[in-house]
Amino acid sequence: MTYTHFKLRMDEHQITWVGIDVAGESVNTMGTPVLNELGTLLDDFEKQTPKSVVFYSLKKSGFIAGANVNEFVEIGKTENLDEAVALTKRGYDVYERLANVKYPTLALINGFALGGGLELALACRYRVAVDEASTRLGLPEVMLGIMPGWGGVKRLPQLIGAPAAMDFLLSGKTADAKKAKKLGMVDEAVPPRIMWNTAIGVLKALPPTRKLSFVQNLMTNGFLRGYVASQARKQVAKRARPEHYPSPYAIIDLWQKYNGDVHKPRAEESCSVHSLISHPTAMNLIRVFGLREQLKAQAKGIEFEAKHVHVVGAGVMGGDIAAWCAMRGIKVTLQDLDATRIAPAIKRAADMYKKRLRDERKIRDAMDRLQPDPTGSGAAQADVIIEAIVENLAVKQKVFAELEAKAKPSAVLATNTSSIPLEQIATALAAPARLVGIHFFNPVAQMMLVEVISGTQTDPSVARNATAFVDQIDKLPLACKSAPGFWVNRILAPYLGEAMKCLDEGIAPETIDEAALAFGMPVGPIELADVVGLDVCRAVGETVAPGATEPQKLKAKLEAKALGKKTGAGFYTWVNGKAQKSAAGAVPAGLTDRLIQPMLAEAQKAFAEGVVANADLADAGAIFGCGFAPFRGGPLNYQRTLSSTH
Ligand code: NAI
Repeated sequence: MTYTHFKLRMDEHQITWVGIDVAGESVNTMGTPVLNELGTLLDDFEKQTPKSVVFYSLKKSGFIAGANVNEFVEIGKTENLDEAVALTKRGYDVYERLANVKYPTLALINGFALGGGLELALACRYRVAVDEASTRLGLPEVMLGIMPGWGGVKRLPQLIGAPAAMDFLLSGKTADAKKAKKLGMVDEAVPPRIMWNTAIGVLKALPPTRKLSFVQNLMTNGFLRGYVASQARKQVAKRARPEHYPSPYAIIDLWQKYNGDVHKPRAEESCSVHSLISHPTAMNLIRVFGLREQLKAQAKGIEFEAKHVHVVGAGVMGGDIAAWCAMRGIKVTLQDLDATRIAPAIKRAADMYKKRLRDERKIRDAMDRLQPDPTGSGAAQADVIIEAIVENLAVKQKVFAELEAKAKPSAVLATNTSSIPLEQIATALAAPARLVGIHFFNPVAQMMLVEVISGTQTDPSVARNATAFVDQIDKLPLACKSAPGFWVNRILAPYLGEAMKCLDEGIAPETIDEAALAFGMPVGPIELADVVGLDVCRAVGETVAPGATEPQKLKAKLEAKALGKKTGAGFYTWVNGKAQKSAAGAVPAGLTDRLIQPMLAEAQKAFAEGVVANADLADAGAIFGCGFAPFRGGPLNYQRTLSSTH
């Protein structure tokens, strides 16, 4: 028998090895054709029963990344809800068949097994996870506003107990191989060299499958089931409002009432696939997934790879940009006026690597790649040079004249400026077309979006190389025109400005923040201003709206040198990285609109001016750069839906 997406072989132990190798894709996803072929495979196994079966991946990376979300993205565009419901039920049925076969089955999980990928593994009798850095197991559907409808809601609680399963189902978090073994999600977690033999060993020994402990069983199948569900609802309520994010609530209901069977709820019930998929949140979150891919797609097909990055300016931004690039495997030289100004950046990098890389060898390698370079000799070898020095035109011009003289002709020359027009800096260059903006956001490690700024003088091929570089370091590039505030700060400024006006009118910061949270912003504007830094906020305000009157409370804080989180006090007092807030008063009618409207209006205006190339990229920039409520699909999308419902 031959298949398009599976390669079968039988070994000397009569084990049938099913290598998953989805045709035409670099990673495995369970799209409709693959799912259908799995059905055919199970038909064939019915006719000729195998002794035992191992599912494993033939791809270089990962087991299965999940369902093919692009199918949902396409469905979202046509709003064919029936197709989405049918797709979910088809997957549920095929996996149900797999779970009920009489012959032993085993999933050998080499790399990520997410969503529909993990659900396939859960439908097997045994699971062996390969203990390597890339192995991650999880059910991230909740982050797309949908639910693990291919048996995940049913099987994960039976395997690891309902409380632990709820934790995964409702947050979308992932576990590595060791954690998965500890929880009982997999039977074995083994190093790559013994993975094949372990799978064979399990299928020869056929150990009894894992049973829940007495208490776990009570919580999952017994009288404590209702208690677990109500605790889970309380936990979710702390993080997500049901009107904004219905899917975690639907997951709990589907489990509690129907044991995860997607066929059981009636279409009008809130835990049905139909209800979830017809809620705007799911379609918007699925669209956001597509937008992220669109941002990445800007870098597709560009042949440019940075092997060496030179960063000038080791301050807040330059230091962290350098540390990030070195963590991503690139050699980095970091220049400042003298070595003592570079030292704090190296120390911050060491702290970040410890937190993020954990492994001693990886930390050492990253530190080796990050080299202090007070004389700036690295500029001559670098493929990308990023300037992140003080925001002063004359100093930047001087530095660029020197850099251009040293740099390789092919090197990208980039500035991280937030407010100085590129065209003005470029006058210092013999070839002004070489200058591009690569605008990172603070804090560099957390903010996924990076704006790639083209001035009128920028050569498009330089901007393309800068885009490829941003993608290379795993950030999301957004191409922008050089206009005050670019895209993100331009639309953020009027929103923060309005919040400052509210403060001056005597509305409590907590109440203002609460009004924005009610819209679905992840943090309120006053807390955000404190995080960004009140000095930076003022600078952004001056760039976007020069000559506007300065808000009084902001002025007072700046005079008192209370700059926000970084100084421990701003509009809030900050203790251990947390804003100390009082209870928010009742949000006055209209306050939410008052805050959000200026941002929406500015987004329309900037979009009409062509600051970004299309509406999708504009929405993506607002979501990944400003935290614009993701389930509303971005400011332009949101305004479209408003006008279509009015
Ligand atoms: P910073 O003041 O923390 O760091 C600037 C560094 O540049 C200092 O270490 C200084 O010694 C060094 N420097 C000054 N002149 C130099 C020269 N001639 N050669 C070498 N090094 C020199 O400033 P920050 O906040 O890191 O900002 C840097 C740039 O990034 C600015 O253009 C700013 O507009 C931009 N930016 C800042 C953001 C922020 O939130 N702080 C966000 C996005 C962009």
